[in-house]
Amino acid sequence: MEVIICKDYAELSKKAAEIFTEQINNKPDSILGLATGSTPEGLYENLIQTYKAGKLTFKDITSFNLDEYYGLSGDDDQSYRYFMDQKLFNHVDINKDKTFVPDGLAKDINAFMDDYEKMIADKGGIDLQILGIGINGHIGFNEPSDSFSKKTSLVDLTPSTIEANSRFFDKYEDVPKKAISMGIGTIMRSRKIILMASGENKQDAIYGAVKGPISPKLSASVLQLHPDVTIIVDEAAGKKLL
Ligand code: PGA
Repeated sequence: MEVIICKDYAELSKKAAEIFTEQINNKPDSILGLATGSTPEGLYENLIQTYKAGKLTFKDITSFNLDEYYGLSGDDDQSYRYFMDQKLFNHVDINKDKTFVPDGLAKDINAFMDDYEKMIADKGGIDLQILGIGINGHIGFNEPSDSFSKKTSLVDLTPSTIEANSRFFDKYEDVPKKAISMGIGTIMRSRKIILMASGENKQDAIYGAVKGPISPKLSASVLQLHPDVTIIVDEAAGKKLL
């Protein structure tokens, strides 16, 4: 596990974008694992700039998103499909037919989740996965638990995650209480992983991920077992590692 401590959010976003750009330029048909939330927004802005500068193309890229709120349609402006369209896909030359985000309205949810796993495997697996981290150490929506989830599942969000997510909603009651999330097994099968974190409220989660015992009580700690993980944090999130 490599840990890179950057001065601030702008620097960590740029660093993550450099790794993405190198990945895509080395393998233009890469399979990317993408994430939503505040943390990767700067990464996506940098990638859009690099694309606009003519130094990057997404035309042969396939992407799979980590998670989606259960019960929301992709047209809902709170859905992660909507986020990805707004923050990245609408601004680059990616073929949207090759961008996959879990379907929050899937009728047969279990069949859908099995298909999602199978689709990732059939495409050859994820080359580069980007992760944020929750204040409780979750990656994707793999909340603190007694065991690591093997595959994409429907999860109950914990009160701390619902509270954290509520900043994006007008009313607390509107915050979804369930989500579809890639499992820890799914994430760990990615060939390369970057985890980004910014801000003091992530310092305990980052410390646990890097130095803590490997435990499903803090999902990100499992990354200590992965052969190719880079943790990119700003000084505030990396405070306890300094
Ligand atoms: P954030 O969310 O990037 O909005 O902080 C990260 C997460 O909960 O995984």
